[in-house]
Amino acid sequence: MALWRALLLLMHCRAITAASGSFWHVTDLHLEPQYQPTPDPLKVCPSAGTQPVVNAGAWGNYLCDAPWGLVNSSIYAMKTILPNPDFILWTGDDTPHVPNEKLGEEAVLEIIEKLTNLIKRVFPDTQVYPAMGNHDFHPKSQLPAKENRVYNATADLWSPWLNNHSVKTFRAAAFYTQMLPGPGPARRMVVLNTNLYYENNNQTISLEDPGGQFQWLQDTLSRASKAKEKVYIIGHVPPGFFEKKRGKAWFREHFNQRYTEIIRKHHDVVVAQFFGHHHTDSFRMFYSNTGAPISVMFLAPAVTPWKTTLPGVHNGANNPGIRVFTYDHDTLLVKDMITYYLNLTQANLVAPQWEKEYSLTEAFQIPDGSVGSMQLLLEKLEKDSGHLQRYYQYNSVQYDLTDCDISCQTDHICAIREVASANYNQCIKDRSATAASSIPGLDLLLFGCVMGLITLGLWGSLSRLGHKQDSTASTQAQRKHRM
Ligand SMILES: *[C@@H]1O[C@H](CO)[C@@H](O)[C@H](O)[C@H]1NC(C)=O
Ligand SMILES: *[C@@H]1O[C@H](CO)[C@@H](O)[C@H](O)[C@H]1NC(C)=O
Ligand SMILES: *[C@@H]1O[C@H](CO)[C@@H](O)[C@H](O)[C@H]1NC(C)=O
Ligand SMILES: *[C@@H]1O[C@H](CO)[C@@H](O)[C@H](O)[C@H]1NC(C)=O
Ligand SMILES: *[C@@H]1O[C@H](CO)[C@@H](O)[C@H](O)[C@H]1NC(C)=O
Ligand SMILES: [Zn+2]
Ligand SMILES: [Zn+2]
Repeated sequence: MALWRALLLLMHCRAITAASGSFWHVTDLHLEPQYQPTPDPLKVCPSAGTQPVVNAGAWGNYLCDAPWGLVNSSIYAMKTILPNPDFILWTGDDTPHVPNEKLGEEAVLEIIEKLTNLIKRVFPDTQVYPAMGNHDFHPKSQLPAKENRVYNATADLWSPWLNNHSVKTFRAAAFYTQMLPGPGPARRMVVLNTNLYYENNNQTISLEDPGGQFQWLQDTLSRASKAKEKVYIIGHVPPGFFEKKRGKAWFREHFNQRYTEIIRKHHDVVVAQFFGHHHTDSFRMFYSNTGAPISVMFLAPAVTPWKTTLPGVHNGANNPGIRVFTYDHDTLLVKDMITYYLNLTQANLVAPQWEKEYSLTEAFQIPDGSVGSMQLLLEKLEKDSGHLQRYYQYNSVQYDLTDCDISCQTDHICAIREVASANYNQCIKDRSATAASSIPGLDLLLFGCVMGLITLGLWGSLSRLGHKQDSTASTQAQRKHRM
């Protein structure tokens, strides 16, 4: 009997350990090779543009892209925190936010090589799935839907991580698919070049399906479904809207539509999606035609702290962040997501210390990172401003600790819930309407009216007692309220 129990326990433990794995997601490192913490506020970093950078510290500044020390520190922090992940997702944007004239193709390739070598050096035996960002090309964001020198050179740099077939499709248009490492049921990684859908990309302006990537994605997912595989999709520029700027979408409208349609059609194999580009920590929900939640996209914060110059974004910097996912080996179910961060102010004052920022399941009391649980989280954010405020602080990785007001809440909720543009616009409209009916000013007015009515009623009953004096007062009160 005891033996039987021990065996059962052993099997149970085996199931638990065998089923669980973990991987890193790191994105938007944006190395600033020319960063120097000099006292001259105009000579600290080209990525600050004309903004003066005062008190520049050794580990970087919120107005600048990441100095080498910070980039290096983030990759070594990954090694210290979790040295043997199953794999690493690296979703692009390696170069600084400077005008094209200050970079050039050689400089871009040099930076991609520098970061590639760093990751290879620190994680020599780890499978990495790299994706190109809109800043990993010259001129920036102009990634073509055909073969070119940058794709070729990058394919060479990344060839230790790519199989022969991936190298081939990468040279053609910088996307690829590979099976995940390790034993167990079939599990697939799909790495997209969504820079082809970026509205700033003039190379794809008149194309229906740049690089044939949509068709390829559909075919890949159809085959995956037939083969009973589970799939993760990763990329750099995400579909949907930016939660820090109302109405700001990255994809061209027809590309956004096509992407959401493909997810809708193939959601049964796509377990999760992982993207970057926002530099902020957020997520996106996808729904069926009948409104059932069917897919989730996790948006990872950047390593660069750089405050965005996108017009209309208020105070859009962040602390450097990196994150670990734990997942079920067999089903790819996301079990948890733990984000680590560096308090950049503190790093410059004392020493760099990467620490845990939060765990998804602990912070929001949800069971895991499944579609159902993320829908539950969204509902918590909608219902409870305490949860929303917590999410908001994570959104900038503890950089912006101010209150997210009603309008800010609308921007975040609608961006998370609605990837399709018609639905997003409707969401903004609906929430703005309800917000207007409950603004404090109106409440006060309503309160005043009610008080007025009560007062009138009171005076009315008093005057019925027959006191002349009171009756005059009542008339005065009535007159006052009619004005
Ligand atoms: C990179 O970080 C590691 C670990 O902190 C450190 O030992 C090394 O000196 C750093 N290298 C550079 C060039 O900063
Ligand atoms: C890219 O690489 C392929 C295969 O190595 C080669 O045939 C092609 O000429 C290269 N294209 C460019 C633009 O360098
Ligand atoms: C992959 O390509 C390389 C170089 O083109 C070749 O040497 C190698 O044999 C190929 N590997 C497989 C598994 O086809
Ligand atoms: C792309 O096209 C827009 C509109 O024609 C133009 O303003 C912009 O300069 C172009 N960008 C590049 C990098 O060619
Ligand atoms: C970051 O460090 C600064 C300086 O020590 C401190 O004032 C600030 O509260 C810290 N931020 C967080 C979120 O802990
Ligand atoms: Zn970026
Ligand atoms: Zn980007």
